[in-house]
Amino acid sequence: MRRYMVAGNWKLNMGPSAGVELAAGIQNGLAGCTLKGDALVCPPYVTIPAVAAVAQGQPVYLGAQNCSDQDQGAYTGQVSAGLLKEAGCSHVLVAHSERRQYQKETDDLFVAKIDRVHAAGLVAVFCFGELLEERQAGNAEDVVKAQLAGVLPRVASATPENLILAYEPVWAIGTGETATPEIAQHMHKVSRDAVTGLLGPDFADAARILYGGSCKPSNAAELFSQPDVDGGLIGGASLKIEDFLGIIEAAEKVM
Ligand code: 13P
Repeated sequence: MRRYMVAGNWKLNMGPSAGVELAAGIQNGLAGCTLKGDALVCPPYVTIPAVAAVAQGQPVYLGAQNCSDQDQGAYTGQVSAGLLKEAGCSHVLVAHSERRQYQKETDDLFVAKIDRVHAAGLVAVFCFGELLEERQAGNAEDVVKAQLAGVLPRVASATPENLILAYEPVWAIGTGETATPEIAQHMHKVSRDAVTGLLGPDFADAARILYGGSCKPSNAAELFSQPDVDGGLIGGASLKIEDFLGIIEAAEKVM
């Protein structure tokens, strides 16, 4: 049985004071609960220390949305995985579609970043997923397989514990459009089969594959009921205490 994860990607929202309020609300909502899975919040860098004061480890883990591919030195504006660990993070998102799109990040960079995350003893959440044009052209499966094949076999020390996967169909991110449970299950199965080919069946069986793309309290239970969906990476709905808690509640119910 895989443990579910419900992760909130706050993106470019929530400064320190709003972030503390949100994290504390989530933490309070879960007080006294022993979750069957893991909750994670990923604030902007500057909000991480404030959130660390209220949520750092069970039941709410703290993560970053990005990190440098470098460890230290003359890299202006960069933040290393080691510094994130020192600030209280246990997880780092890598390869989010918004970084692929706006920062033009590439497979080589993703491999380097994941290696740094692992060297710091943190867990990487590796995001992948097809664009609308790619789906419309009938290429969704090939795109996803290529994104996985371009990175996973090159990561030096990946285990199912230190590498979580997140399928995020770009056409469903922030659009209100959600993959149907059938599409989500199909793409998660395609992804898991690809991982079997790349890293072996034991890794693939144990790997957690999260779904991301307009996941909310009203559709979370249906999505999370799919056998290859192991939780969610949530954008917009992770910014409201009751919505994020509602999604965790759905996970507790069906997983
Ligand atoms: P939304 O939930 O806002 O669609 O965002 C999903 C996402 O990008 C999470 O990383």
